[in-house]
Amino acid sequence: MKKITLSLLAFWACGQAAIAAPALSATESAAAVELAKSNGCLSCHAMDEKIVGPAYSKIAAKYSDDKDAASSLAQSIRNGSSGKWGRIPMPAHGSISNDDLNLLARWVLTVK
Ligand code: HEC
Repeated sequence: MKKITLSLLAFWACGQAAIAAPALSATESAAAVELAKSNGCLSCHAMDEKIVGPAYSKIAAKYSDDKDAASSLAQSIRNGSSGKWGRIPMPAHGSISNDDLNLLARWVLTVK
C-alpha cells in the first residue's frame, strides 16, 4: 500500500514538474538527505565540492542527459563503483533497500 501511494506521489510530482528530469517532492528530498547522512554518504561526498568522492552536483551534471541514470546510479551505490571518476573506488552499500537506493540516486541527480 505504501509503495502504491509513493508511486502515485512520484507520478503526481513528475506531472507537476512537466519535465522528464527526476523531480523530487520536498518530502522526498528531505528523506533522501536523511538517508545520505545516516548511510555515511556525506563523509565522502558534498553537494558542490569533491571530498573523497565527486560532488553530487558534478554527478548530476554528468548524467543530466542520461534518462537511465537513476537506475545505473542506484546500481553503482549498491555494488560500489570504480574507474568512472578517478582512482579512488566507492565501496558497496549492500544493506540499503532498493527503495532507498532509488530515492538516493534520483536525489543525487537533482543536486545543483
Ligand atoms: C568511502 C567513500 C564513499 C562513500 C561512503 C560513498 N561514496 Fe559515492 N563515491 C565515492 C567515490 C570515490 C566515487 C567515484 C567512483 C568511481 O570513480 O567510479 C563515488 C561515486 C558515486 C556516485 C557516481 C557513480 C557513477 O556511476 O558515476 C554516486 C551516485 C555516489 N557515489 C553516491 C553515493 C551515495 C548515495 C552514498 C551513500 C549511500 C555514497 N556514494 C557513499 C566515494 C564514496
